[in-house]
Amino acid sequence: MAKIVNSWNDWDPLKHVIVGLCDNSVIPPEEPATSEKVPVDSEMRGMWGLRPLRTVEVGNACLENLVKAVEERGVVVDRPTPLQWNQAIGTPDFRNDSMMTCMPPRDILLTVGPEIMASANSFRCRYFEYLAYWPLMMKYFEEDPDFIWTQAPRPRLTDRSYKHNYYDEKITLEERLVRTANKDFVTTEVEPMWDAADLMRMGKDIFIQHGLTTNRTAMDWFQRYYPDYRIHAVNFPGDPYPIHIDATFVPLRPGLIINNPVRPLPEEQRPIFEANDWQIVEAAQPAHDTPPEFCYSSVWLSMNCLVLDPKTVIVEASEVNELEQMDKLGMNAIPVDLRGAYAFGGGLHCSTADVYREGECLDYFPNRVPDATLVRPEMWND
Ligand code: ALA
Repeated sequence: MAKIVNSWNDWDPLKHVIVGLCDNSVIPPEEPATSEKVPVDSEMRGMWGLRPLRTVEVGNACLENLVKAVEERGVVVDRPTPLQWNQAIGTPDFRNDSMMTCMPPRDILLTVGPEIMASANSFRCRYFEYLAYWPLMMKYFEEDPDFIWTQAPRPRLTDRSYKHNYYDEKITLEERLVRTANKDFVTTEVEPMWDAADLMRMGKDIFIQHGLTTNRTAMDWFQRYYPDYRIHAVNFPGDPYPIHIDATFVPLRPGLIINNPVRPLPEEQRPIFEANDWQIVEAAQPAHDTPPEFCYSSVWLSMNCLVLDPKTVIVEASEVNELEQMDKLGMNAIPVDLRGAYAFGGGLHCSTADVYREGECLDYFPNRVPDATLVRPEMWND
């Protein structure tokens, strides 16, 4: 029996990873959670159905580039088992005309030490996405006696889980930014809802972005589920569509984070980083002015990199500014052509989920200061 699953952060030496697949991917129909995320000027609004086959082929070829790059460096790669994502689904609480994809595994699978937990996504179209990873989970379960296989409480996703008409077409960008600053999001607090890509794992501390896809109740749930870890809530008022932390606040190694310059971490959330000598540097400007076609994400996928170890990082090959910045920050940057996969759900970090990184659970924030980000500060008063 072997140790298969172990990962406590995003920078320890990567040995085993899941890389997504674009097969059968669908642009999902609008639903209460997703109609709000498509930018008003996006060509994606009102469009749904199977993604064009030519784009699936290009996306999968890009993912193969990533697989090759990591395998050449000794990383074991597993792939999900895609479902026929264009099927209609239903539960006692809702019906939806289709599912979506298994391209961004990062949104679905959260690895914390020996545990992989499937998320409680707020999009109805993603309700059954975890099934694509279940064959792998069963394999890890058979091979690794310490693997903890978990499914978070399933959200009901009734109409009560969303604010309706939260954004109508008339809402301006400025008003959206005010809402982000006020932590006023489309999801309500009737149950925990979260995407795994909203969590940044840092050993004993887990930072969670409060935004369109993860609510406050989820953070409270995490603090109770992981009583030995400090759960922090962060938010980034510069982002009009705050979905997933990994194009906003990205750790490269202990002590170093790159932060999206238009989505800076607010001052009042910084003391815990400053007191522990973490440097927060502005990420380089994206090389592109616009995202590729059929893409939901912003140009800031430029900073959505995959750290292989504290000195080595994979960056998208066309992101010349980010490649240059990595070099200046002392990282050996490996370019991989992945832009053709962006439309399926993100960049290099999104496209992967950790299975094994060498290392253990460390405390990277031993100096305790008044910390506005703690979800349950009373648990950590010495
Ligand atoms: N939602 C993130 C962005 O597009 C991935 O910036």
